[in-house]
Amino acid sequence: MDNFRFYVPTDIRFGQDRLASELTEVLDTYGKNVLLVYGGGSIKKNGLYDQIINLLEGNQHTIVELSGVEPNPRIETVRRGVALCREHQIDVILAVGGGSTIDCSKVIAAGVFSEEDPWEIILGRKGYQGEALPIVTILTLAATGSEMNSGAVISNLETNQKLGVGGPAMMPKVSFLDPANTFTVPAYQTAAGSADILSHLFESYFNVTAGTDVQDFVSEGLMRSVIKHCPIALKEPDNYDSRANLMWASSLALNGLTRNGKHGVWSCHAMEHELSAFYDITHGIGLAILTPRWMAYVLSEQTVNKFAQFAKNVWDITEADKMKAAKQGIQATYDYFKACGIPMTLPEVGIDAEKFTEMAKQAVAHSTIKTSAFVPLSETDVENIYQECL
Ligand code: NZQ
Ligand code: ZN
Repeated sequence: MDNFRFYVPTDIRFGQDRLASELTEVLDTYGKNVLLVYGGGSIKKNGLYDQIINLLEGNQHTIVELSGVEPNPRIETVRRGVALCREHQIDVILAVGGGSTIDCSKVIAAGVFSEEDPWEIILGRKGYQGEALPIVTILTLAATGSEMNSGAVISNLETNQKLGVGGPAMMPKVSFLDPANTFTVPAYQTAAGSADILSHLFESYFNVTAGTDVQDFVSEGLMRSVIKHCPIALKEPDNYDSRANLMWASSLALNGLTRNGKHGVWSCHAMEHELSAFYDITHGIGLAILTPRWMAYVLSEQTVNKFAQFAKNVWDITEADKMKAAKQGIQATYDYFKACGIPMTLPEVGIDAEKFTEMAKQAVAHSTIKTSAFVPLSETDVENIYQECL
């Protein structure tokens, strides 16, 4: 196991009905001028918007709104947010939504302190070390883990770039995690979010660092929880405990718990971000399509032990032959995503082979998968994996 620092200071307020008694007090810690950031309107339909406005107005907060944050948030929206913060001397950003809204808020929070255009923050991807406005989140979709980490992913559709950035000041100060706020998440997004959680776990689990049983066994437990609860949430959208397990798994899958102590970079996310950058597809769906194909592609005598462990501990596969067990585990992963209603080929989400070469080039250029992935991937490898998804 490698050396690591695990410092995740986000104050998690998990559970039902906490906003009425806690939200305004939390915001008051930072000031009265609030930028309320949200997406395309789901919070207006489910009543969360009205609840928040009533609470804030009742406590003499000044509310400035930035609405319409896109899934795969755009740099233009970040720029609008930075301008609003400057114009209204915003003290704190309240992000209400899924990963897109939270990510957009993080880069706005940092952008306010930068004289450069916010896209430069993204391009300086080594890590943002500057200041940021405080961010409070109310999570409405279990998926990215953005509620408890310092990362953000922003798209620039003009240049077909979707890039991640992160920095300590971008970590949310407080995150309200009420599973009931995810009851209205549609089936497609529930499945996509669960696939994203699983992918975050897979990406660190399939890793070359030796001696990481704690991370791996915790990860297997989280995978099993998601695998169990996503189908229940799909059938019973207002099943509180299933939504609760998905929500907490979302945060724990990407807050460093299962990733720290390991080195190397992720594979499927590098490949998926290009699909989203060129075709604006849902992140978790792209991951679900790619993952079993990537697994099959990198399975070999060198990697079979980890895949056999995965098959046994996550899918309860009892086959004694390791290679056969590994293949069954990969098939189980594919079958699971399909059973959750995820379209499992690229053409089903509107992607054909036309841009495979270009996307493969970018996937390698935007990451270090060629040298540091679980199994290093060249442009040809990435293109071959895309081909497998047709
Ligand atoms: O925009 P609204 O109207 O709110 O609707 C959203 C959106 O259409 C809807 N939704 C969210 N909560 C809902 C709801 N609909 C009904 N009821 C609710 N309670 O769901 C749709 C998707 O929302 P979005 O925020 O885009 O989803 P997600 O949380 O999956 O975020 C995806 C983005 O996060 C990035 C992805 O690349 C993508 O851009 N990621 C961020 C990471 C991070 N910060 O750590 C890591 C991830 O790997 C990922 O890359
Ligand atoms: Zn992800």
